[in-house]
Amino acid sequence: MKRTSSYILLVAIAAAAILGARALGWGTRASGRSAAAEQVYVAPGELDKYYAFLSGGQSGSVFVVGIPSGRLLREIPIFEPRAAYGYAVHETDPQRQLLERTGGLWGDTHHPVLSETDGVYDGRYLWINDLSNARLARVRLDYFETDRIIKIPNLQGAHGIAAVSPDTKYIFVNGEFEQPTDGLVTNPAPYTSVVAFVDPWSMEVKFQVQVPGNIDIADSSKDGRYAFSTVYNLEQGRDMGSMIQYDRDAIAAIDIPAAERAVAEGKGEMRNGVPVLIPERVPGVLTLIPVPKNPHGVNATPDGKYIVASGKLSPTVTIIDAQTLKILAEPEVGLGPLHTTFDDRGNAFTSLFLDSQVVKWNIDRAVQGADDYIVDRINVHYNIGHLQAVGGETMRPAGDYLLALNKLSKDQFLPVGPDMPENQELIDISGERMRMLSSFPTPPEPHDAVFISPDVLAPQVKQVFDASPNAVAPGSESVVRTGPNSVTVNMTMIRSAFTPDSFEVREGDTITFNLTSVESLRDMTHGFALPDHNLNVALPPGLTKTIEVKAGRPGVYWFYCTNFCSALHLEMRGRMVVQPKDSPVVLTDWRSGQNVTGAVPGVPSTGGR
Ligand code: CUA
Repeated sequence: MKRTSSYILLVAIAAAAILGARALGWGTRASGRSAAAEQVYVAPGELDKYYAFLSGGQSGSVFVVGIPSGRLLREIPIFEPRAAYGYAVHETDPQRQLLERTGGLWGDTHHPVLSETDGVYDGRYLWINDLSNARLARVRLDYFETDRIIKIPNLQGAHGIAAVSPDTKYIFVNGEFEQPTDGLVTNPAPYTSVVAFVDPWSMEVKFQVQVPGNIDIADSSKDGRYAFSTVYNLEQGRDMGSMIQYDRDAIAAIDIPAAERAVAEGKGEMRNGVPVLIPERVPGVLTLIPVPKNPHGVNATPDGKYIVASGKLSPTVTIIDAQTLKILAEPEVGLGPLHTTFDDRGNAFTSLFLDSQVVKWNIDRAVQGADDYIVDRINVHYNIGHLQAVGGETMRPAGDYLLALNKLSKDQFLPVGPDMPENQELIDISGERMRMLSSFPTPPEPHDAVFISPDVLAPQVKQVFDASPNAVAPGSESVVRTGPNSVTVNMTMIRSAFTPDSFEVREGDTITFNLTSVESLRDMTHGFALPDHNLNVALPPGLTKTIEVKAGRPGVYWFYCTNFCSALHLEMRGRMVVQPKDSPVVLTDWRSGQNVTGAVPGVPSTGGR
């Protein structure tokens, strides 16, 4: 009897505890967490579902992240030197010289754009802007390497960029900071700026269209007819107060075929070698669609029917017919709308900077003026800027994941000083309600992201670099004196040796290194670091780099491999011996071991083992 009653009591307590926990939401929270964890967990050795390319902002690079794991896979240095990738490190590296020539060794990357064929990503190239120095870069996605950088004339603050759908006819770049038309500060005329249309394959600026105000974010219509840009500061004020006077600014719609005809007819004004179309002189090229003041994002819907402009200072988005350019609706979505992306089921997702939310709304219902166009809202942490759903910029969104790129992370990660890591949040958008899945940090500062499926991209990724014309072949390594004060070292590297692994030069010599990794196995990268000569380059398999250095002060300099490559990685090193200028030592030809005179009569060759 006593035993039975205590048993009943125990069961009752257990039942009460379970019910109590349910009431407090513990049980549901635990299962919600594990379901979210399951959705983003990628087991060791398994691969992510998508590549995400996040702009590096003031890191001047692009971060490649796996989705859904959020794992950082690679950084692609673009506007900054990076020894770890052998990129633009040394003064004589043509990549570095190009950076210096076009604006400097830093950049501010904002908007990654992928090449499209038939309105979907083809995995060939990525373009990205450098806002600060008005540059546009192209990244080859077979190598994940920067291959072209151009400086865009007549333009400052290269901000919004977009590919012209459906086949990447142009990349167009918006000049956000207006300048005196002729570049002279004495010019009393209003400041203006331009949208630059760049041929994506030759990377030439084909033409520009002058637009009043500050030209901000960009997207093209899906049929390639219009280049759309948000424009604020139609007041043409030069300080913040005077930039927010008007109730309405505009979406600029540039009719691309009309602009091409005007350029072909010679109606452009040549400025710094580029024809610039002045809208007043070529009617029909530019239409300004009035939208609430200081708009920010502009995004074309996947079906190509509408353009959505985000209000920023207005709690609305403006829905515009992409053919007639008429405003169809201006629904309220929340405070601080910045950007909009899309799923595959007719829904739009708008980032709300002030509300720290993503709002999901139904496009057709909003266009029809129905009351129930808002579908869902989810809180993000905090103050979201861009957001991007997988394929949201293409004609075929995936409707599975959405990435929130938050501007302020505050308390989301372990403190690492006053400057916190940036916070990205991954949201499941496959159901009616959005579900927060995970967050991951990055260095500063992603502004925007694009995603591509490995099904498209991975088969195009090369395993080794194609041989360059000036590659050093195994067996043809040499040290050649090419002049009284110049030496060329033709060097190869393969596990686990440099050839030659020692050579001699004289103080005052200029040494040209032709460095070739003759590895043919992917992921077998060697580094070549030369102490006290400001030189460290990584050479992935097959790559050749040509770099010039001054011999420096007499002494022995051990060059060594900086990338772990094998059990004999530590032994992979060699000596550069710098003899005094007036050294009586007779230098010998490194290959033949003979005393030779080299290319310049009377000048001893170098080397000696
Ligand atoms: Cu080569 Cu370490």
